Amino acid sequence: MKTRFIVLAVFSFILLSAGTPGKETLKNGEKVFNKICFACHKDGVAGAAAITNKKRWQENADKGLENLMTNIKKGIVNGKYGTMPPRGGCTDCTDEDLKDAILYMIHESGARLK
Ligand code: HEC
Repeated sequence: MKTRFIVLAVFSFILLSAGTPGKETLKNGEKVFNKICFACHKDGVAGAAAITNKKRWQENADKGLENLMTNIKKGIVNGKYGTMPPRGGCTDCTDEDLKDAILYMIHESGARLK
């Protein structure tokens, strides 16, 4: 049992580090995106990176997932491009939801996590 778990964990890590989020991640990410993130990130309102903007999402992805999580949990006030409310304004999103939404947007834009 323990060995299986370790094998699975290592495998998931390889998948994630290769920048290929799993099906469940993308499905939940899309749900969260459609709930709230789309308001700014669909077309790139108010300086937000549009989901179709590969260049901007690559720039985000290059910061690394952990840094992106830290930044969006705090919110961004007068950043390089604009202002984003803490947690993208999603008060009932878990950290996992936010992470899935980030991975979804990176994936959809065609950008890749390093
Ligand atoms: C009210 C508009 C708005 C909403 C809603 C919004 N964002 Fe943003 N987001 C922005 C703006 C503007 C920026 C660019 C800030 C900057 O870098 O100056 C941004 C930047 C980001 C970044 C890059 C952070 C960084 O470190 O540069 C991520 C990741 C992100 N948003 C994820 C999300 C997620 C996930 C959601 C939904 C849960 C969301 N956003 C909802 C406006 C929004």
